[in-house]
Amino acid sequence: MIVLGIETTCDETAAAVVERSEDGRGKILSNIILSQVNEHAAFGGVVPEIAARAHVEALDLIIGRAMREAGQDFDDLDGIAAAAGPGLIGGVIVGLTTAKAIAMVKRKPLIAINHLEAHALTARLTDATPFPYCLFLASGGHTQIVAVRGIGDYVRLGTTMDDAIGEAFDKTAKLLGLGYPGGPQVEREALRGNPARFALPRPMQGRKDADFSLSGLKTALRLEAEKIAPLSDQDVADLCASFQQAVVDVVLDRLRAGLRLFRARYGAPTALVAAGGVAANLAIRKVLHRLAFEVGSVLVAPPLELCTDNGAMIAWAGAERLALGMTDTLDVAPRARWPLDEIAAAKGKLQRTAAYK
Ligand code: KG4
Ligand code: ZN
Repeated sequence: MIVLGIETTCDETAAAVVERSEDGRGKILSNIILSQVNEHAAFGGVVPEIAARAHVEALDLIIGRAMREAGQDFDDLDGIAAAAGPGLIGGVIVGLTTAKAIAMVKRKPLIAINHLEAHALTARLTDATPFPYCLFLASGGHTQIVAVRGIGDYVRLGTTMDDAIGEAFDKTAKLLGLGYPGGPQVEREALRGNPARFALPRPMQGRKDADFSLSGLKTALRLEAEKIAPLSDQDVADLCASFQQAVVDVVLDRLRAGLRLFRARYGAPTALVAAGGVAANLAIRKVLHRLAFEVGSVLVAPPLELCTDNGAMIAWAGAERLALGMTDTLDVAPRARWPLDEIAAAKGKLQRTAAYK
């Protein structure tokens, strides 16, 4: 089964072709990503209108390149998948409409993919991870702990009350005059800093639930920085190291709580799976390894280019759904907001309807 996947929910224009064999193994035939980082850098964050326009300009080219590199013709495809949300609506419309056009002209099934579901299923593309597993998704827009129990069966165990972890890294970088995106810069600075110099809070630590809150940490960091301004290079490094250490401690505590909830409800997870750009952070990866070991499980952390936004994860989620006969009609709507557990709720409704028949 060969599926084209299109991703345009944020600042990456991406397309990929992925093959899924009958035994459920995945193979990436092509994976093309065009980052818009340069277009947005001057603004210190993603500007929705600029993103949508850049997607329009680049998407045809990126799809063409993905098809050529995979050695595929549109007629060879078994389905066309596109991220239908959640994300910046202008960009989502561009990607989904393009997918609809190809599906209509080539008479192929359309699969509208929830971007978060695609992150959640990537571990099955790279490692054929069996259900149920515990997903830690940490990106610029999302911070979630999810029980992944099957295709379309996701239960959110924890989420952030305010900022996403990646967002907290980005805001810290901006405050300290480092570039965008901030995560990698803060990590680099932290390497030569003292993580114990500033006493920053560990919000939500010790709570039974598995939720996050990061805005207090960000404010505490700003206050410390203001106290000692103007900042020397060493001050910046120490602030970054102290911030990253606080985040690492929070992740350890909140994920421990999440894994406890998982075990109580569903038994032992087959794996702890990391996804999202923040999973690139080596200090955070270390703590995830430790956690997986603690619960007698393994850490599945897909390679970096598959942790951050990409087309292969959309194509793969499309292939997984297509294999179960789950396709969408051409009137499916793009969505700015689309919580993962809503998919599970809709599935429950479907099953109930089927039972009534
Ligand atoms: O998943 P992603 O590419 O895009 C979405 O937000 O969906 O994640 C990007 C986020 C940014 O906030 C970026 O600062 C963060 O991931 N990030 C990192 C690192 N690399 C990227 N955060 C901490 N440490 C890193 N090394
Ligand atoms: Zn993402």
